[in-house]
Amino acid sequence: MELITKAPKGTVDLVPQTARRWRWVEQALINEAELNGFAEVRTPVFEHTELFQRGMGDVTDVVEKQMYTFEDKGGRSVTLRPEGTAGAVRAMLENGLYNNGYPVRLYYNIPCYRYEKPQKGRMREFRTFGVEVFGTAEPIADAQLIAMGMSALQRLGLTDVGLQLNSIGCPTCRKEYHQALQAYFSARKESLCPTCLSRLDRNPMRILDCKSPVCQEIAAGAPKITDYLCEDCQSHFAKVQEYLTAMDIPFTLDPGLVRGLDYYTRTVFEFPSQSLGFALGGGGRYDELVEEIGGPPTPALGFGLGMDRLMLALEAQKTEFPEEAGCEVFVAAMGEAAKVKAMSLVNTLHKCGLGADCDVCGRGLKAQMKYAGKLGAQYCLVLGDDELAAGKARLKYMADGTEKEIGIGESFVEDYLAVSTEKGRLSL
Ligand code: HAM
Repeated sequence: MELITKAPKGTVDLVPQTARRWRWVEQALINEAELNGFAEVRTPVFEHTELFQRGMGDVTDVVEKQMYTFEDKGGRSVTLRPEGTAGAVRAMLENGLYNNGYPVRLYYNIPCYRYEKPQKGRMREFRTFGVEVFGTAEPIADAQLIAMGMSALQRLGLTDVGLQLNSIGCPTCRKEYHQALQAYFSARKESLCPTCLSRLDRNPMRILDCKSPVCQEIAAGAPKITDYLCEDCQSHFAKVQEYLTAMDIPFTLDPGLVRGLDYYTRTVFEFPSQSLGFALGGGGRYDELVEEIGGPPTPALGFGLGMDRLMLALEAQKTEFPEEAGCEVFVAAMGEAAKVKAMSLVNTLHKCGLGADCDVCGRGLKAQMKYAGKLGAQYCLVLGDDELAAGKARLKYMADGTEKEIGIGESFVEDYLAVSTEKGRLSL
């Protein structure tokens, strides 16, 4: 029984009060993205497995250990998306979004799936708010994107977020760096974990973000990519820093920051939460990925914010979320004819975009009034035989108990709006 009464490990339900808070945060992020010229893209939850293998690199934790991959009934290997970038690139290419000229700026708010060991801020199903910019190699685009990320976090009122910055160069300068890393780690091979050992030849940079404490200690003394950057990458990185400084955006250089996915080139960054001890988001440039996925050479960059982690950070900060709007008018009724009238008045109010409710559980009048209070109704209209006969009823403003008579016939909406405009209204 437990299997069907408990949500799968690493997943959570968002119950109404929590879902409302999430929606508030998501809306703030959407506003920020749209303000910056981004438009929404929605891609499938599953993609061909190869897209992620090619996109994220097959020697990464995500691809090697964490993907939800299965064969569909047609014998194709498909994978629940572990992140949003690869799908956004595919969609951009498949739908020719570049035809209107560059930059193409996309955002998405999507559930992602990684088979991880669940812990605080680490889920198997988590939500990412991501943004991607295609078609510019200019460092101004990097700085602008990072500025937008910082501004989004500030818009949410987060005070405890930093910005860590690094450049991991291009394939040219990385060749020499890989050799230096291989030499360094080979000399310490016997202490590396089995996963790192297997990555030594194929992808030594991955050892730099291994979670094992012993590997981390060894990695701390490893050669730094910033000492191996080619001239172009150096000047690109210097410009990004110069532009961030021009916008008064403080950052910390972290030469050990390499990110966990293989597609990054040049600028990489993370937004760490000091108190929670993990990154709320991260991203960077991926100038080779579009070509890798079959498109024309197209420089690109982006970042993803972990929604679950943003919510944890906001809760840790005791953020006050906006109050729930609640029910605006409750129409209480006594008797069958009044009940039908209440139902039809509520229907009329809904058509006008006003939040209204009436009893649907067979409650008596007293219980209906109690229920209206529980809903936090702003107004209450009580209907009985007398009101039906007179075509009028008293509209009660719950906050101060004052009442005004309004028509419940033709003039109902007009009368209601006149009274509620004076007193204040929740919806509309
Ligand atoms: P990522 O760093 O793997 O990057 O994930 C982005 C954010 O998603 C993380 O900073 C974290 O907040 C959240 N996150 C990742 N894994 C989990 C998890 N298991 N549970 C909860 N939250 C998680 C990417 O996925 C890139 N696609 C970002 C990007 C976009 N780079 C360029 N464009």
